[in-house]
Amino acid sequence: MQVYLNGKFVPESQAMVSIDDRGFLFADGVYEVIHVYRQKLFEWDLHLARLGRSLAAIQLPAVDGSELSRVAQQLIGELGPEQSEASLYIEVTRGTHRRSHGFPPPGSTPPTVLMWVRPVNPIPEETVDHGISMITVPDDRWAQVWIKTIGLLPNVLAKEKAHQKGAFDAIFVRDGMVTEATSANIFMAKDGVLYTAPATNYILPGITRHVVLELAQARNITVNLTPFSVDQLVMADEAFLTGTLTEVLPIASIDGYPLKSPSGPLARQLLQDLHERAGLQP
Ligand code: PDD
Repeated sequence: MQVYLNGKFVPESQAMVSIDDRGFLFADGVYEVIHVYRQKLFEWDLHLARLGRSLAAIQLPAVDGSELSRVAQQLIGELGPEQSEASLYIEVTRGTHRRSHGFPPPGSTPPTVLMWVRPVNPIPEETVDHGISMITVPDDRWAQVWIKTIGLLPNVLAKEKAHQKGAFDAIFVRDGMVTEATSANIFMAKDGVLYTAPATNYILPGITRHVVLELAQARNITVNLTPFSVDQLVMADEAFLTGTLTEVLPIASIDGYPLKSPSGPLARQLLQDLHERAGLQP
């Protein structure tokens, strides 16, 4: 498949970035991942707005949204008709310059812009039915995780720790309170109230989180954006992850303790609502 790199569409095998790219050297860049359902980008405007905030936060120039949209459509056009789901990846780094911590001199390098679309497999129904297992890990990430930077080593290590313990993913815990998972936000429900961590600098404000909050409100479900502890989470009626590729994914156990419901009714309802919003269901 073709990818887009710095203004050109090139075969994936020929898409190369320099050893001096600041993304490679310093993780000096930001990214977005967008779900493509039946050739349509899910919540494009929200992703573009968040990309704009991430770029501004690390002092990179804004990107031209209509140009990105044009490129995205061209990449999506390469998907076969049998590919009902895909992901669009966008990465912008501070460009290429001989290694030095300070920013390159103004005008010395354009940002590196990479975009690709790749097919994704829909989450199997059995996974939703059985729920996933999670472990908890200390949230030792920096304090600006609201910026969607490509500096994801703590997330990578936490995910790997989960895999090594036979779990699906890890939940970050900061000062005793649950923040989020390695690439998804986390919700719990107790006595009909839905809880998720507030959108502070300690979580990535997920687009799926935002959509799920809207879907819950449309169903008159009370939502409480208050931090909760691991103990509260384990005592919940149900819990689930939300994310671009995770969608709404029920949690069955945490650190080996089974939750009351491995695949709760609220999660299933909200997943159905999300699919409807994505144009997958009537
Ligand atoms: N990750 N929290 C973290 C740390 C994330 O990396 C992500 C998304 C989310 C959910 O955000 P959204 O609903 O906008 O996808 C929360 C993407 C999918 C990734 O890194 O692949």
